[in-house]
Amino acid sequence: MKETNIMGIETSCDETAVSIVRNGKHLLSNIIASQIEIHQRYGGVVPEIASRKHMELIMVICQEALEKAELSLDDIDGIAVVPGPGLKGSLLVGLSFGKAIAFASGKPLIGVNHIEGHIFVNFLNNEEILFPFISLVVSGGHTSLILVQSIEQLEVIGKTRDDAAGEVLDKIAKYLGLGYPGGPIIEKMAKTGKDDAINFPRPLLNSNGFDFSFSGLKTAVINYIINSKAAQQEVNINDLCASFQRAIIDTVKHKTLTAANKYNISRIVLGGGVVANEQLRKELTEDAGKSNISVYCPPKELCTDNAAMIAVAGFYKLKAGITNSFDLDVFTE
Ligand code: KG4
Ligand code: ZN
Repeated sequence: MKETNIMGIETSCDETAVSIVRNGKHLLSNIIASQIEIHQRYGGVVPEIASRKHMELIMVICQEALEKAELSLDDIDGIAVVPGPGLKGSLLVGLSFGKAIAFASGKPLIGVNHIEGHIFVNFLNNEEILFPFISLVVSGGHTSLILVQSIEQLEVIGKTRDDAAGEVLDKIAKYLGLGYPGGPIIEKMAKTGKDDAINFPRPLLNSNGFDFSFSGLKTAVINYIINSKAAQQEVNINDLCASFQRAIIDTVKHKTLTAANKYNISRIVLGGGVVANEQLRKELTEDAGKSNISVYCPPKELCTDNAAMIAVAGFYKLKAGITNSFDLDVFTE
């Protein structure tokens, strides 16, 4: 059987990443240049700086990915790119670069939605995840529940009405002066805190639909800090982080398991940076297991943004005959 090598390119936020994946299964290279250190001093991503850095790095990272895979552009069968969602300027760099090499080499161009990437990266390690499944994607930009019937049929059944879960983790960490990105820092602080110390709200927990809302939780955490200071009460940061993280985990876990039950689906597929959180992975897997629901999650390094996820989704799209023309444009949401 002929091998199919897909090059994935991902520049939607603050990672410049290129990966080559064979037959949707074998990771030949996965190069990620993170800009975290540059954005750390601002407490979050600065879009203009991000796109300039992508421009500087994309060519080098692409060459590195080919070298690591011991391949040349001739050996590549498709170029998978991300039109969105993400930061406009950043997306434009990866998309234009991908279009240029696809055009120059005569390879098909495959547009992969960033969220699709977070979902289908799970196919890299699992021989077969049967359709349909429910996917929970929790990242800095998204908190979404998606009913996935096939590579082409994805229905968003719930999403955040305001801030994404990762976004509030980042904003609270910034507010506390703990650094960026917030998720891993809060996870670490939470390890030695009591998660029942403060009863933070779990917004929309018992609402009928599957939408999320996290901005009220963010306000509640900030108000707790302000009120404690005003009352000259010391805030135990570890307890605060543990209780805050617990409110997020309880909410996404409850909604995801309720969705699986409602749609009578026995497979849950996780994705997105927040899924790197050990407690969230563990609890969802254990609780779902009690109802005979299987949970699939990527290895931690493939939860946060990478290009392997774009190459894997690109492989399955190409296999299904889905490619794009060169007028593919960027979208931010
Ligand atoms: O998927 P991702 O890399 O980028 C977006 O598509 O947004 O997700 C980044 C988000 C950030 O908000 C970051 O704080 C969060 O994922 N994150 C975590 C962990 N690692 C990254 N949140 C909780 N626990 C972690 N270990
Ligand atoms: Zn992402």
